[in-house]
Amino acid sequence: MDSIKIGMLGLGTVGKGAYKIIASNAEMIDRKVGSHLEFVKILVRDQNKDRGIDLDPNLLTTDPADILDDPSIDIVVEVLGGIHPAMDYSLKALASGKSLVTANKDMIAEYGKELFAAAETGGADLFFEGSVGGGIPIIRPLKNCLSANRIMEIMGIINGTTNYMLTKMTKEGSDYNQILREAQDKGYAEADPASDVEGYDAARKLAILASIAFNTRVTLNDVYIEGITRISAKDIEYARELNYTVKLLGIAKDTPEGIEVRVHPCFIPYSHPLASVNDVFNAIFVRGDAVGETMFYGRGAGEMPTGSAVAADIMDAARDKLRHTQGINCTCFDHKPLKPMGSIESKYYIRIMVQDKPGVLASIAYAFGDKDVSLASVLQKHTEGNMAEIVLVTHRVLEQNLQNAILMVEQLSSVGKVHNIIRVEGEL
Ligand code: NAP
Ligand code: HSE
Repeated sequence: MDSIKIGMLGLGTVGKGAYKIIASNAEMIDRKVGSHLEFVKILVRDQNKDRGIDLDPNLLTTDPADILDDPSIDIVVEVLGGIHPAMDYSLKALASGKSLVTANKDMIAEYGKELFAAAETGGADLFFEGSVGGGIPIIRPLKNCLSANRIMEIMGIINGTTNYMLTKMTKEGSDYNQILREAQDKGYAEADPASDVEGYDAARKLAILASIAFNTRVTLNDVYIEGITRISAKDIEYARELNYTVKLLGIAKDTPEGIEVRVHPCFIPYSHPLASVNDVFNAIFVRGDAVGETMFYGRGAGEMPTGSAVAADIMDAARDKLRHTQGINCTCFDHKPLKPMGSIESKYYIRIMVQDKPGVLASIAYAFGDKDVSLASVLQKHTEGNMAEIVLVTHRVLEQNLQNAILMVEQLSSVGKVHNIIRVEGEL
């Protein structure tokens, strides 16, 4: 082959990163692959937009057929985002035998099964390293290097936007909306940033990781999701007083009762290895029965880090094209059940506004005790008029018992509002 021809769908943050890396390291990359990698067409919405990138304008098109119907194109890179039209274009590319490289977790988390089936039919590669953890290698390590292990647990910070925001809120106490705008300006956030702050982006990534780790198809709907929108300056302040920091974690476990998959904010002790993962950095722990604990760390979002993962996928797809081979396809051969959220165990931080009068604490303590929730500490923080804010931390208890206790506490006439409930991970 003279060259491996690439058609790219999208030239935003990630597309530009991948293009720049392949252009600037062309000689080295071509030698590593064994052929020249050539972008022949790039689909965009607006051909006249100033993209701040050195690029032949004739490469740009607004017609997807220029890529999908061109039989000379070997690899399609999908970096549009969202489900439609990305999914339609991806299926079409795979069906015609073009390998697909994508960073689209929305699509993989929801339609991984269909995409893998299309890749199998088309005899093509489906690579998606950039979909989880930005520039961090995690999909290939799970599929290749750790594949002899039974993976028991994955725990990590897998959304750069929210980690950037929580870091700023913790260190600088800055305004929530202003920090979100900063994350958007840096190219970290999704087109709809609600997906980041409400936890959906992390949940999609966790579904992808859990599917590979536990060989069982896990989709977005299987993941329990809470975002960071309810985290207030007060929660961050009280966490600090209790020697914790607040992180949005993705947690997946393979337990005898089924697979646990959840994304929610957590208090973690400062001594916890994830506590020092700040800004846009992500970190993912993987625990396997043979290897023990491994940790993957790096920039979880942004142009060049994600571009790095996409560019490497393009190189692997190109090598497979040259050798007429195919990468590892779908590994979901098992059907493990999901563990209901009520059956998980955790410690909890609870912030409640109550009437500041005798007997109130006793009635709250009774409600928790009645539902088998053991309290580790109770602190009265401050009073406003006749109301007092109290902070409770439980021992490790069953989620269902905690929820039952909260329902009972909310019925108490002396309780104004349960402001927040945040799970606590790790030992102080
Ligand atoms: P982006 O900056 O919004 O870029 C999207 C690109 O796709 C733009 O070039 C846009 O064209 C083009 N586009 C969108 N819809 C189109 C349509 N219907 N027809 C033609 N062109 C269309 O997005 P991004 O941040 O690069 O993200 C791309 C994908 O990577 C998403 O799936 C995202 O979840 C994933 N991802 C992003 C990051 C990150 O750090 N940003 C990290 C990992 C994964 P115009 O430029 O003309 O508007
Ligand atoms: N919006 C995502 C994040 C991009 O902030 O992590 C990387 O997938």
